[in-house]
Amino acid sequence: MRQRGPHHLLSMADLDRDGIEQLLNLTESFAEVGERPIPKVPALRGKTVAWLFYEDSTRTRLSFETAAKRLSADTMNFSVSSSSVNKGESLRDTIETISAMGIDGIVVRHSAAGVPQQVTQWTEASVINAGDGWHQHPTQCLLDLFTARTHFGDLEGRRITIVGDIRHSRVARSNALGFATMGAKVTLVAPPSLLPSSLEGWPVAVCHNLDEALEDTDICYLLRMQLERQKQAVVPSLREFHNEYGLTVARADRLRSDALIMHPGPMNRGVEIAGEVAERPQAVIGEQVANGVSVRMAVLFLLLGSGLDVVDNNRIAA
Ligand code: CP
Repeated sequence: MRQRGPHHLLSMADLDRDGIEQLLNLTESFAEVGERPIPKVPALRGKTVAWLFYEDSTRTRLSFETAAKRLSADTMNFSVSSSSVNKGESLRDTIETISAMGIDGIVVRHSAAGVPQQVTQWTEASVINAGDGWHQHPTQCLLDLFTARTHFGDLEGRRITIVGDIRHSRVARSNALGFATMGAKVTLVAPPSLLPSSLEGWPVAVCHNLDEALEDTDICYLLRMQLERQKQAVVPSLREFHNEYGLTVARADRLRSDALIMHPGPMNRGVEIAGEVAERPQAVIGEQVANGVSVRMAVLFLLLGSGLDVVDNNRIAA
């Protein structure tokens, strides 16, 4: 893994193609652990991981917790809503307090871009970005890459169309970078009001016509409206957005039969995706969630583990 610091995962920019391949290969080994009668290995016994979620989460938080438990790590559950943050304690004091108790990793989600990077200055623990503002969500990208690789093998030359509220999406930023790093061709589809003001440095093409973009796509990747980050109306109505940019039944019917429909969740059925389309076999949204546990086991293991000596012949020792 090419690393920004000694042991953090803050952005997909921290990983080159080899680093991603290494992580996805290790994820396969951990997916096998998940299929055992007792899906638990001692790989992180004696290590402690803390969760700091300053923003809501269902999938990311629960899958990190499950991943840590499957690796036999101890977990420190920090709830912002019932902590001394409510008495005015700063982020820095919170991090230094938790670190003083002896932790090996911190998984951070925050509404402000750059917070995980800042946290690395205040702790010796490994910091993992679980989503920071509009900036990055690297473990979401890794689980999406793993899911896509499971279906297509090599992603070189594959076409992914990312549709929806790109402007406010950290998943779009991570996935554009991550899929392009793996050789895929990334196309963004959104109205101008839902695109970033500048796409300089983004390894993508842009299209404003979803029907055109979906003609030959391998992956239709949908994003919800990030209403919590929108300061003003960005589309005339959600109904119009659905008609112009949603994956309707008619559009899903025109997708190639081997194309995948992906979504990071949470979904807003009837807005970016028709409810019925989300139930089709091509929609691998449940698979993405399941793969999230294995990917996060691999990330925690690589950053906090004492080495790869517990991996023998691609099998994790029980
Ligand atoms: N995809 C994702 O980050 O979901 P949560 O907000 O539920 O964690």
